[in-house]
Amino acid sequence: MTKKFLLLLALVVFSCSAAFADRFVNLTPAPANITVGDGDFKIPNGMKISTKGLTTEMQAEVTQFVKDFNAATALNVKVAKKGQMEISRDSKVAEEGYNLEVTPRGIKLAAATPAGLFYGLQTIKKVLPANVMAGKPGAKGTEYVLPEMVVMDEPAYGYRGFMLDVSRHFFTADEIKRMLDVMSYYKLNRFHWHLTDDQGWRLPIENYPKLTTVGATAPDIRITDMHAKKQYMAGKPYGPYSYTKEELKDIVDYAAKRHIEVIPEVDMPGHFVAALVAYPEFSCAPWADRQVWTRAGVSKDVLNVADPKAVEFAGTIIDELAEIFPYPYIHIGGDECPTDAWETSADCRALMEKEGLDNPRLLQSRFIKQMADRAATHGKKLYMWNEVLTSQGADSVMLKDIDASIFAWWPADESVRKATANNLPVVYTPFGPYYINRRQAPDSAPGAGKGEDDVKRTYEVVPFATAVPGSEANHMGIQGTFWTEHVSDPEYMEHLALPRLIAIAEAGWTPQSKKNFADFQKRITADAELLDLGDYKYTKLYMLPPVGTSTGPDVPGIE
Ligand code: ACM
Repeated sequence: MTKKFLLLLALVVFSCSAAFADRFVNLTPAPANITVGDGDFKIPNGMKISTKGLTTEMQAEVTQFVKDFNAATALNVKVAKKGQMEISRDSKVAEEGYNLEVTPRGIKLAAATPAGLFYGLQTIKKVLPANVMAGKPGAKGTEYVLPEMVVMDEPAYGYRGFMLDVSRHFFTADEIKRMLDVMSYYKLNRFHWHLTDDQGWRLPIENYPKLTTVGATAPDIRITDMHAKKQYMAGKPYGPYSYTKEELKDIVDYAAKRHIEVIPEVDMPGHFVAALVAYPEFSCAPWADRQVWTRAGVSKDVLNVADPKAVEFAGTIIDELAEIFPYPYIHIGGDECPTDAWETSADCRALMEKEGLDNPRLLQSRFIKQMADRAATHGKKLYMWNEVLTSQGADSVMLKDIDASIFAWWPADESVRKATANNLPVVYTPFGPYYINRRQAPDSAPGAGKGEDDVKRTYEVVPFATAVPGSEANHMGIQGTFWTEHVSDPEYMEHLALPRLIAIAEAGWTPQSKKNFADFQKRITADAELLDLGDYKYTKLYMLPPVGTSTGPDVPGIE
């Protein structure tokens, strides 16, 4: 009998007993398949872990697990020839999937890849007392007990992302690491880092040092005080704030250990004011008075895409970016780029005439092709927001030629349809419920939105619900997107992001047919302990009251 057959048999045997069905297992995202028995396996002091057929990288996952597990539990588990925990390589398991079987006799875990093994080990950590996942020593006497269960798991989507805007307000490397940690608890695997915008440039570029001095300093800054529920201007300069190359590489490594790829975004040719303040010669109006933006919105001050020197400036940024970030994609934004400046620029009009471009949006398409060619010299392809495809007059054929991928934000569903009609891969991050910087209730602290996008609404989004049937191969996945015009500190960022990011993580991993908000509510309620151990801020809305109290779900207060 094959191992898979035995696991399936175990699933069927367990499933036959309705008595097992209600046992609470605190595992988020909910697995694709789980059956729970009524037995337990208590992890003993000195438990031995055997490994079979693992690659060097998989063996390294086990070593890391042993180190982290022992630090949290002091149980002194160790790798040995034979053990109560058996980890093996099974090439038939899906890319990021794993099979886990817990019986009163021990644990069996199989995966095909380091990522799959990592997720299997994360599942074990997640189901155990919260201190294990939090990486904190447990209280004296804590028992580490797993329920009897068979889990055959793999993610619904390959792209499960979180985007953070560090331009509008800057977040330090340590603040980002906290978010990478929480992403890894919930099996998210892409950190989309929005590094530049009108309000600040945070990416060091050796050839253009003024980007991280002039371009990284705003004359003033809006502060949101989430406790006093007030916003005000600081009345003093903000910055210069940027990362060093070492910090960027350290974040890439930190994320990689958690199976998270970092996707840098440099938004161009619009949302580019900070760069143009540093280097006005690359704008359509070098003589104009300009300053790093202090407010939200869309600027008409964009890169002069008809000037070869300005295009070379952008190309050099791509070169340096490609050196730091190892993954095969970079994001060049492309959203909200008005064409007004191009329409009045003699350079741009002459270029349109020369190249026979019959609408100014084609200047952006032409620029994208130039950046795609530049990225290709580094073996990389481009991610972009949906406007590069959905703006009137954009060149969709070019996007297919360069193998672009589209981030559908607004109008998200229409953008998905248009992307897939053009056979372009697409990430779903709808404005509103997946824009998790928005207020979650009408009486939240000031910020973006009206407060309708609470965790229930976010949870109940059905990704790609209105996509054309048969377009599934192009559905890359989902992303929680966080803009920071109204969010000036990490406490408020976490408070707004959590637990909505967890709801999105479940959409990314769990099959739609297995999602259930009432069940999710119980699990996020239980996860308050995990978030508290990490001193995370989060919104308690929809978390259930403690057993024995009669109050309803918490009002959206600030914690
Ligand atoms: C966006 O929200 N402008 C992508």
